[in-house]
Amino acid sequence: MIEIGNFQIDLEMRTLLQNGEEVHVGSRAFDILAVVAAAAGRLVTKDEMMNAVWPDTIVEENNVQVHLSALRKILGPDRDLILTVPGRGYQLLQRQKRVTSRETASQAAGGRRLPPSKSRLLGRDCAVKLISSMLTHTHVLTLVGAGGIGKTTLAIEAARHCSADFAEAVCLVELATLTTPEDVLGAIVEGCGLTLPGPQADVAQVVAALGRHRMLLVLDNAEHVIAAVAHILDALVVGNDMLRVLVTSREPLRIMPETIFRVDPLGVPPAGCTNEEILKCSAVNLFLLRANSLQGEIGVDSAEIRLVGEICRRLGGIPLAIELAAARVVALGVEGVHRRLDDRMAILAGGYRTALPRHQTLRATFDWSFAILDAKTQSLFRRLAIFGSSFTFEVMCAVMCDDEFSVASAISGITELVAKSLVNVEFEGPVAKYRLSESTRAYAFEKLQAEGELQTMTSRNARYLSSLFQPQAGGDLNEELGNRLDVKQTLDDARIAIS
Ligand SMILES: Nc1ncnc2c1ncn2[C@@H]1O[C@H](COP(=O)(O)OP(=O)(O)O)[C@@H](O)[C@H]1O
Ligand SMILES: [Mg+2]
Repeated sequence: MIEIGNFQIDLEMRTLLQNGEEVHVGSRAFDILAVVAAAAGRLVTKDEMMNAVWPDTIVEENNVQVHLSALRKILGPDRDLILTVPGRGYQLLQRQKRVTSRETASQAAGGRRLPPSKSRLLGRDCAVKLISSMLTHTHVLTLVGAGGIGKTTLAIEAARHCSADFAEAVCLVELATLTTPEDVLGAIVEGCGLTLPGPQADVAQVVAALGRHRMLLVLDNAEHVIAAVAHILDALVVGNDMLRVLVTSREPLRIMPETIFRVDPLGVPPAGCTNEEILKCSAVNLFLLRANSLQGEIGVDSAEIRLVGEICRRLGGIPLAIELAAARVVALGVEGVHRRLDDRMAILAGGYRTALPRHQTLRATFDWSFAILDAKTQSLFRRLAIFGSSFTFEVMCAVMCDDEFSVASAISGITELVAKSLVNVEFEGPVAKYRLSESTRAYAFEKLQAEGELQTMTSRNARYLSSLFQPQAGGDLNEELGNRLDVKQTLDDARIAIS
């Protein structure tokens, strides 16, 4: 239910009520009202309105005016709440009012407001549509991916895209600064504008307060309070099957009603493609957009375009890393940024002053993930820096496991690192192959060095690699190598181990 002055709009039933009584309104006039109301204060352009109300027909613009004036007659004293912005479009104005009941609370509390877009979303059209359509049947949809991959940006855009489907509200709740289950529940109560009987909320009261309202709850940054979020959501969706929850997290919630949506990096150009192909990639577009907003004239030169393509590929298409790299162009130039990518932890710093602290440097983004690992998993993670390319579980155990680090710890550690989006896994037939992105490896490498373990791990790896080149008694080395491993990968790692 959306309130406009003394009126309530029920988008699902397509009815307009005045103080609870149904008021007759023509179908097109209702559509116009629904579009402007669902935009929740955002300006709806003329084209957007025409496309929404007459999706398959081209009609004269004055048709909107005709239906709008009929609508304004019905709204009477509240007619001025639908504003026509000359030459631009239409906008819903809201009067400040006191919260009088649970039904009106979520709108008045402002929890439903999504922040305005700061900049253009690149390369996510399909993802936005897919997420919107998944939310019609999935109760809890978790956008999972590494830090800075664009989960929050995508979640907000997807929520905006499907906000018209949610008659009650779209509530955004930021979890990043919270630490306890009580904090999480309190933030949900506040974000949804719920009024509870006592000061300390419990889940059952929140379930009761939500009733069977159709609403979309967006929970941003769940990874560090993941267990609390999992338990709360499990209860909320059982209590209200009309509720939809969109979560962003570096790791899945692991609850029954959850569907996972892995957020991919932005598109990067493969090595050796043409400049035209490079310029079609969304990661390259983001780099150029950000660099040009600071410097101008980047990307006109053909050699420069190739370097930008290479930078984006080596940054793995991660938008945050690309933004940080683009910001460095002002001081270092494209060639300078490209040349210093091996020292990326040092140069990918100095993000937007207004960004979250953990988004101001690449290192801080990883710190946020690293800090929530237990000590054993932290140790495994930093040791994985010695693998320059993909590796199997067997190879990892052969190099890592010792009296202090068992195979069981390796199993739980690698499972956790994959879940937390720090290690990528691919399947070659039945075989799982793990890999750290170039940026993740650079961070893990710093940690390995800081811990004073680089030398030990490098020698262990070198010992393991040389053992592979020793033929077993009576065996043929070439045949064994062919059977046992990917020779090229081993040689790559051997090169790294002795360099
Ligand atoms: N598709 C995109 N197009 C343009 N900029 C993006 C896109 N995705 C992310 N960004 C930018 O990258 C940065 C990190 O994105 P964010 O959504 O906060 O990542 P995450 O939530 O995964 O940590 C932000 O500054 C955001 O504006
Ligand atoms: Mg985020």
